[in-house]
Amino acid sequence: MSVILKRTNQKMPLVGFGLWKVTKSTCADTVYKAIQAGYRLFDGAGDYGNEKEAGEGVRRAIADGLVKREDLFITSKLWNTFHKYEHAKEYAKHQLSLWGGIGYFDLFLVHFPIALQFVDRKDKYPPEWWGLDGGVHTQNTPLQETWTAMEELCEEGLAKNIGLSNCQGSIILDVLRYAKIQPQVLQVELHPYLTQQQLIALCKTLGIAVTAYSSFGPQSYVELGVDKGVTGLLSHGAVAEVAKTHGKTNAQVLLRWAVQQGVAVIPKSNDHTRLVQNLEIFDFQLGENEMKALNNLNINLRLNDPIDIDPRLGIFA
Ligand SMILES: NC(=O)c1ccc[n+]([C@@H]2O[C@H](COP(=O)([O-])OP(=O)(O)OC[C@H]3O[C@@H](n4cnc5c(N)ncnc54)[C@H](OP(=O)(O)O)[C@@H]3O)[C@@H](O)[C@H]2O)c1
Repeated sequence: MSVILKRTNQKMPLVGFGLWKVTKSTCADTVYKAIQAGYRLFDGAGDYGNEKEAGEGVRRAIADGLVKREDLFITSKLWNTFHKYEHAKEYAKHQLSLWGGIGYFDLFLVHFPIALQFVDRKDKYPPEWWGLDGGVHTQNTPLQETWTAMEELCEEGLAKNIGLSNCQGSIILDVLRYAKIQPQVLQVELHPYLTQQQLIALCKTLGIAVTAYSSFGPQSYVELGVDKGVTGLLSHGAVAEVAKTHGKTNAQVLLRWAVQQGVAVIPKSNDHTRLVQNLEIFDFQLGENEMKALNNLNINLRLNDPIDIDPRLGIFA
């Protein structure tokens, strides 16, 4: 099951594998086994610090004949410190070299509409949110400059598709005013606590595919100590009720809720059984009332908000 991207007609799988917080030491094996289990899309980023290891897993799977490069859909993202034209291009190429031999990204996203001061990879990689002195340093690079570099990556064949992440309507509409190559995908936090229905509708209107991240809501943020103290969706009674009806897990219901809206998902798991379980969401369908019950859980709870790092980064304010 996939969505077709408008510009290239390329198929983007509706379920992919998220690489954020996938343990570095086991990442190559996890990716290899995920390919064996049927995953074809991998969602990486410079910021995740495991692109080299993920690439090793991919290389091994190709060498063993499990898949060909063209069967895979590899996504990566440009980090905030590389928004200047020359850095964007250089770091995209660096990231491709870390993946090693994949030749191109199927999708390359601007990770956040936030420009931070450049940090050289010789000093720290990935640089995360903080400069070498421990402070957050913003930089006045307009997104248009970054987008021009993204377009050139596309024209040079290093990225088949380009897109945005963590952007709301006003930024998307602005990018469309100057884009020669339109964003094909928007990746955003999306789960029943943050349903983003207007944003999904806007993207549908504009022909931009939507990928949901953190489909399990607070779960991903528990280990970081920033789950904002709400009841987890994986143990929520309303989700469990739907899951019981279908003989599925809460996790599968949460993923199904998204894909039934035409939204792609990219669940992450360091556990093989859960990773396999997350693929098995195409043998049941949620009814209208069940979709409604899940939509009614919306409390506009955003777990991944850079304003929590620094008040100047309030992109969702
Ligand atoms: N663009 C962005 O800014 C952005 C931000 C965040 C995430 N993302 C992308 O989206 C991907 C997914 O988001 P995420 O990693 O935040 O969270 P997620 O996939 O919603 O949740 C991952 C958490 O759920 C657990 N889990 C996974 N499958 C489960 C299952 N079937 N049953 C119970 N627990 C399960 C995992 O634990 P175990 O590992 O122990 O199974 C982990 O704690 C990321 O990996 C990344 O690729 C992008």
